[in-house]
Amino acid sequence: MIDSAKAGFYLNTLNSQIKMDLPFTESYKIKMVEPIRKSTRKEREAWIKKAQYNLFNLRSEQVFIDLLTDSGTGAMSDQQWGAIMTGDESYAGSSSYFHLKETIKDITGFDYFLPSHQGRAAENVLFSSLIKEGDLIPGNAHFDTTKGHIEFRHADAVDCTIKEAYDTTKEHPFKGNVDLDKLEHVLISNPKERIPMIIVTVTCNTAGGQPVSMQNLKDVYQMAKKYGTTVIFDAARFAENAYFIKMREPGYRNHSVKEIVREMFSYADGMTMSSKKDGLVNIGGFMAFREKEMVDKCSMHTIMFEGFVTYGGMSGRDMNALAVGLQEVVDFDYLDTRIQQVKYLGDKLIEYGVPVQQPIGGHAVFVDAKRFLPHVPKEEYIAQTLAVELYVEGGVRGVEIGTLLADRDPHTRENRYPALELVRLAIPRRVYTNNHMHYVAAVLKNVYDRRDQIKHGFSITHEAPILRHFTVELERVHKEASVRK
Ligand code: F0G
Repeated sequence: MIDSAKAGFYLNTLNSQIKMDLPFTESYKIKMVEPIRKSTRKEREAWIKKAQYNLFNLRSEQVFIDLLTDSGTGAMSDQQWGAIMTGDESYAGSSSYFHLKETIKDITGFDYFLPSHQGRAAENVLFSSLIKEGDLIPGNAHFDTTKGHIEFRHADAVDCTIKEAYDTTKEHPFKGNVDLDKLEHVLISNPKERIPMIIVTVTCNTAGGQPVSMQNLKDVYQMAKKYGTTVIFDAARFAENAYFIKMREPGYRNHSVKEIVREMFSYADGMTMSSKKDGLVNIGGFMAFREKEMVDKCSMHTIMFEGFVTYGGMSGRDMNALAVGLQEVVDFDYLDTRIQQVKYLGDKLIEYGVPVQQPIGGHAVFVDAKRFLPHVPKEEYIAQTLAVELYVEGGVRGVEIGTLLADRDPHTRENRYPALELVRLAIPRRVYTNNHMHYVAAVLKNVYDRRDQIKHGFSITHEAPILRHFTVELERVHKEASVRK
């Protein structure tokens, strides 16, 4: 028998030999802060009513934690702010343009590029040049502005995402993948003149910030070549996609993020980019292409809509900051910090039983509003109802990705009810701490605990003919009250 003093001694010796795993920590420190203010529930109830229950109508001071979007809301690094000071504002041929051009070539391998003021401006220029009425544009759940720009030209966006993307409970490492059978069906059954491009969105925002695998990118590209069409990446979150390939796809663990990014872009003929996401800047965008012919086709529209081809809606200083951002975003430590924070929020919500899209995506946690609020009828905008509840509960602003966003069918003008009603909690890059995430999770838990009392949502009092979710006006549906009348 060993006495207890001896046992303690052995245990201590053992403990001192077990090395602790070092915990997750951010790969930056903070140099400047911006105060934010908590409000009261009473204030928030009045503000959201005045905003016609549209979260886009709130003033930012009325929001405590702003998860409306990860677009243009990130914090720039000291290196980026430094680059701002050396921007060259020459109208033509500025050194900032060439700095950016060389960086884009280095990151993507594309030789040709045209700047634009943001992502949808790049879509506008590219689609003005390549899409005509009656065309079909297959892809993996096009983002709303992409779809808007396609439909605005009386063409159709055909969703070919794999079916697993629409089951939030199903674990799949690459829920953003294109279903090759669906894609081939579109390509076989239509003349190739009607399919000017396939658009692959990396990561796929609409399907929950879900990545596309390298194998899938390769297969789509090969199929496109077989049927004589081009592949364009909507590359807003290309680096986050590369991170998931590194972590989840066999054979990539030992590749650098930059190598993965280069291989991804080798399976595309061109790209549109919203620099407000993985460009790590607050405004900006671009198109980039492998062939000069594409730039020649797009230059006229760039000059008409955006500006001369060496600035296209961007200032020299912003192009400089973007060039630095594009290098910072492919740094593994940056991406690990970013994706781990999103996962931190997702894991907390899972712990609280809140239904979320799984696995957790790159830039946001997507809450499954249909499963969260089973009593609210779909005609009363389930996801919007949840988004308003989260705001009223704790000043957290998310965004509806549901029926309001899905808009009306351009032909029948009927509401389109999407397979998923989601509330997206998008996390700005390098802005909030994990304590903020903890707060957000607690707000969701409180609403979840009283979910059975939430039975009604909203009706529309005003809407725009296209992209209605930005400006829609709503009022609460009080069924009991109207029955009594
Ligand atoms: N493509 C994707 C995948 C996007 O997520 C966005 C914007 C765009 C294109 C358009 O770019 O805003 O620079 O014109 N997404 C933002 C969001 C608005 O909140 O997800 P933009």
